[in-house]
Amino acid sequence: MKKFLTMMALALALGSTSFMSLGAAHAADLKPNLDAAKDKVAMCIGCHGIPDYRTAFPEVYHVPRIGGQNAKYLENALKEYAKGDRKFQTMHGIAATLTEQDIVDIAAYYAAQTASTPVNPQK
Ligand code: HEC
Repeated sequence: MKKFLTMMALALALGSTSFMSLGAAHAADLKPNLDAAKDKVAMCIGCHGIPDYRTAFPEVYHVPRIGGQNAKYLENALKEYAKGDRKFQTMHGIAATLTEQDIVDIAAYYAAQTASTPVNPQK
């Protein structure tokens, strides 16, 4: 129980700092860094990098393909999940931990993917 509360406090702290950084920075001023993105997408690959785009746990649901989508579309989707304008619990939890720079990097990384990009480049 104590561990659970610590985790909750940590999640809240992370969430609030990233909300502050979302407000402070302007996306237009940020340049995407594809190298930095490679580390950041490690947490997305578990769901968005599996061949038939379905999660197995905690339940099976469809996971959209994000590689090759327009960068601006991906940025907007992540910001909407972070703010809660677009509702999906797991994506909200993840998007809320990203900074504005993370979002720009990750969006550019996925937008640059093509049909021949390996599904899971980390493997
Ligand atoms: C636990 C599984 C899981 C993880 C981890 C995850 N996602 Fe998602 N993601 C989903 C699901 C499921 C949806 C569809 C949600 C919905 O219906 O709105 C989604 C939706 C999205 C969308 C919207 C796609 C569209 O077509 O509109 C984007 C963009 C996205 N995720 C990016 C990411 C990024 C970037 C990461 C890593 C930082 C990530 N996701 C991590 C499961 C996950």
